Amino acid sequence: FKARRPVIAGNWKLNPKTIAEASQLLKLLHANFVNHRTPAQLDVEVVVFPPFPFLLEALLVLQGSGIKVGAQNVALQTSGAYTGEVSASMVRSIGVDYVMLGHSERRAIFGESDVDINKKLHLCLAEPGLGVILCVGETEDEYESKLLASVCDVQIRKGLKGVSINDISRIIIAYEPVWAIGTGKVATPEQAQVAHTVIRKTLADVYGYQAADSVRIQYGGSVNPENVDSLMSMPDVDGALVGGASLTADSFTRIVDGS
Ligand code: G3P
Repeated sequence: FKARRPVIAGNWKLNPKTIAEASQLLKLLHANFVNHRTPAQLDVEVVVFPPFPFLLEALLVLQGSGIKVGAQNVALQTSGAYTGEVSASMVRSIGVDYVMLGHSERRAIFGESDVDINKKLHLCLAEPGLGVILCVGETEDEYESKLLASVCDVQIRKGLKGVSINDISRIIIAYEPVWAIGTGKVATPEQAQVAHTVIRKTLADVYGYQAADSVRIQYGGSVNPENVDSLMSMPDVDGALVGGASLTADSFTRIVDGS
């Protein structure tokens, strides 16, 4: 039993290729979850993050399964002349429950800064009922240079700048060491525990121990059905953010079951 309700999330990234494939995956997930328990019995919060064009389909197909739906990103703006963007209010208006922000791929490939991420986070918090998964984590070089603590500390402080203690319950932190993402090189449970402790210390410094103690911190990076249990056995690992292994209903369900 964990005091903080575990949260397992599947980040589909730029997958799958078509609505037909997405729909198939969603239907299999729905069947798996509806068949072995009711939403009320889910002792784990489960969220999937499909690409934007599949969000509505996900919301429709997953009805009654207890699985929530999140968006992988939102615009830096609320509305207007920003071709190609999708806003926090748009995703909230269709029923999306979470937005993921600060993923290392957004930071490294799309040049998102902590300031951008913070701005997006406030736009999400302006939408009643919308939660955020804020991703942080160090690169391999930073890890080797023993910069894990300072990198995560800065990303948390800047990412959460201006967020009130009242809103902190709407935020989940995902610790994703960049060297573990898509590499098959999962952090050891002990490494994850150390990083999560560092993150919780920063949160305590900003919000006090009681609030920090209530924030859920997920681990992400090469999580699979075989390693999830040992990661989750760590006291400060409150869930997992799963990439590759969230793309089949079987492995994602086994991760939820094993958590
Ligand atoms: O957001 C989850 C992700 O970055 C981890 O990916 O494929 O290593 O589980 P993966």
